Amino acid sequence: MTRPSLVLGIESSCDETAAAVVRDGVEVLSNVVASQHELHERFRGVVPEIASRSHLQRIVPTVREALAQAGATPADLSGVAVTNRPGMIGCLLVGVAAAKALCWRFRLPLVGVDHVQAHIHAAFLAAPDLPLPLLALVASGGHTALYHVDTPGRGERIGSTRDDAAGEALDKAAALLGLGYPGGPAIEQAAEGGNPDAVAFPRALLGPTSIDFSFSGLKTALLLRVQRSGAPGAPAADEVADLAASFQAAVVDTLVEKLARAARPRGVRSLAIGGGVARNRRLRAAIAAHDELRRLAVVFPPPDLCSDNAAMVAGLGALLLARGEHATLALEAAATSRAAVHPR
Ligand code: KG4
Ligand code: ZN
Repeated sequence: MTRPSLVLGIESSCDETAAAVVRDGVEVLSNVVASQHELHERFRGVVPEIASRSHLQRIVPTVREALAQAGATPADLSGVAVTNRPGMIGCLLVGVAAAKALCWRFRLPLVGVDHVQAHIHAAFLAAPDLPLPLLALVASGGHTALYHVDTPGRGERIGSTRDDAAGEALDKAAALLGLGYPGGPAIEQAAEGGNPDAVAFPRALLGPTSIDFSFSGLKTALLLRVQRSGAPGAPAADEVADLAASFQAAVVDTLVEKLARAARPRGVRSLAIGGGVARNRRLRAAIAAHDELRRLAVVFPPPDLCSDNAAMVAGLGALLLARGEHATLALEAAATSRAAVHPR
């Protein structure tokens, strides 16, 4: 008789301090996210030193809350999974230190999780029996890339951004338009009253077959447009809705076209989106309406599993632990995926 596995996930790679408990790799018992958006809003971007100090203040109460909501104590856990790469190093270190402390004190197995692979894994929390191979788009403030997944947890990157991430472009566009931070939701809201065809912003397709992304030209096009409008500072309110709608449409069209290009020759059976930009309703609607993409098993994880959270980390961690991929207390944090050290 095996007892259920309860894995605690810890996430602190950017500006969300998060902890979650997942049972048997798929059932989310708690998913607590302490967002720092209000601390970074006036800088219109995440300030690493402020973020890591805030993680330090929030990590213990966040972990306590996740355990309490799951009705669990540390002694009930089967293991602790922590994002140890990629991300802001000072931020990652806070989560990694907390995970190690718990594992040392309660003699629990520890596993380090790649943040981007965890974003992909959110799809398996939403739909555990997803048919493989899977094509996944991870679009967030730090990443925009396509992954081919034959084995859960081991997505292979097949296309990525050459400059800005999609979320970063939306954040910068929102700043240019005098909208709030984070920019994605602000643009989505402002776009509601606007015409997506008002401005023909460029869709950077990078040639007929590329599945890489580029958003810097689009950002420059918006900057030039705002400068041309002549108004000092932010453009007039009635113009903002059209600009936001047109900018959002250009980002969404590009993401959808690249998904279709990547899916076509690879015989994938399912498609998932992850990362904060995957919360976007226009993106979800465009994928659902696309002639080719809608024939696949399409998974839109619930919004709380798209933006940064620890349930995706716990879910992937449970899978890695079941495969015997334990780390020692020498586990290191790494700013990039490749530089990560995984001592066994
Ligand atoms: O995955 P995430 O929470 O953190 C990172 O790993 O970066 O993604 C945050 C990004 C931000 O750029 C934010 O503007 C964007 O996701 N975002 C959205 C929406 N909600 C968040 N972009 C478009 N539409 C949204 N509704
Ligand atoms: Zn993320």
